[in-house]
Amino acid sequence: MDSEIKPFYSNANIFLTGGTGFFGKVIIQKLLRTCDDISGLYLIVREKKGKSTTERLGELFNDPVFNKLREENPEFLKKVHVVEGDCSRLGFGLNQSSRTLLIDKINIVFHCAATLNMDAKMKDAVDTNVQGLSELLDLCHEMRYLKSMVVVSTAYSNCTQSIIEEKFYDPPVQATTLVKLANELEERVLDEITPGLMSEWPNTYCYTKAVAENMLREKAKDLPAGLFRPSVGRTTHREYKDIIEEEGMKSFNKHCDDALNTDAWSLPYKIIKRKEHVDSILSPVHPIDEKWTDAIG
Ligand SMILES: NC(=O)c1ccc[n+]([C@@H]2O[C@H](COP(=O)([O-])OP(=O)(O)OC[C@H]3O[C@@H](n4cnc5c(N)ncnc54)[C@H](OP(=O)(O)O)[C@@H]3O)[C@@H](O)[C@H]2O)c1
Repeated sequence: MDSEIKPFYSNANIFLTGGTGFFGKVIIQKLLRTCDDISGLYLIVREKKGKSTTERLGELFNDPVFNKLREENPEFLKKVHVVEGDCSRLGFGLNQSSRTLLIDKINIVFHCAATLNMDAKMKDAVDTNVQGLSELLDLCHEMRYLKSMVVVSTAYSNCTQSIIEEKFYDPPVQATTLVKLANELEERVLDEITPGLMSEWPNTYCYTKAVAENMLREKAKDLPAGLFRPSVGRTTHREYKDIIEEEGMKSFNKHCDDALNTDAWSLPYKIIKRKEHVDSILSPVHPIDEKWTDAIG
């Protein structure tokens, strides 16, 4: 990264959600490779499928996407810090000391964590995609030195529009109402009313992302926040050919194929290289900060 982008990251402490995911791991390696003078990178990781966060981290950093970084900077892990948590839980599932650490340290936030499962039950999709963002925004409001945050949504959050512009749209339901329904209704009842709730939305993923976007509009008015809506991302042979070995690349592409081979995608889609998405996630932090600083004088 050149120009004004790299200096913005200088000495910054960055908090990334979804670091174990398809976009997240590329964000991690890109930040650590190209912004070598960041102060620290904080990842929220949950236990999953009987694996502890430590085991999961070991697996994460064994991924071939980190080969080049490991080669260039074998010490890179010194800058990586992990907080145990779960974005679908109240308070992001953080203990008090992790929460305090983030409040005191973080300058830049990237929110990539989400349930992308288009067949997810409404309860699961709301807990992670809507309530999760709400919990993160509460945390960001407490952060003492926050300069910029980027929330990753999807190009399909407003798929009910024939033309989607770079603006917020009215949501199918208010986030507070949806979270209340998800928390208070019996799950069986919630499942029964889900088709009616979703109306023209094709799946709980797009639906909850639409609701979350509007919550960001309302709840982040007083935060230096930006929204990014990527279309479908996938790897290609040319993307990171110097970083990703063949085996790793196959598994990344399978992830995309799995996502696309579902009836839920009755919508047209444009596939863009994951690298380009990641560049688009990392580059607006500086203008967000500038715009925010101008706005608050
Ligand atoms: N990939 C695409 O083509 C695409 C297109 C448009 C938009 N997006 C958006 O881009 C973002 C990243 O997508 P992705 O493709 O990287 O997805 P992904 O590979 O499925 O990764 C999802 C990430 O979210 C984390 N996560 C999910 N639930 C969590 C929870 N309860 N607590 C903590 N972490 C949790 C996962 O952690 P675990 O490893 O613990 O599950 C994982 O790191 C999402 O917001 C998605 O909507 C992606």
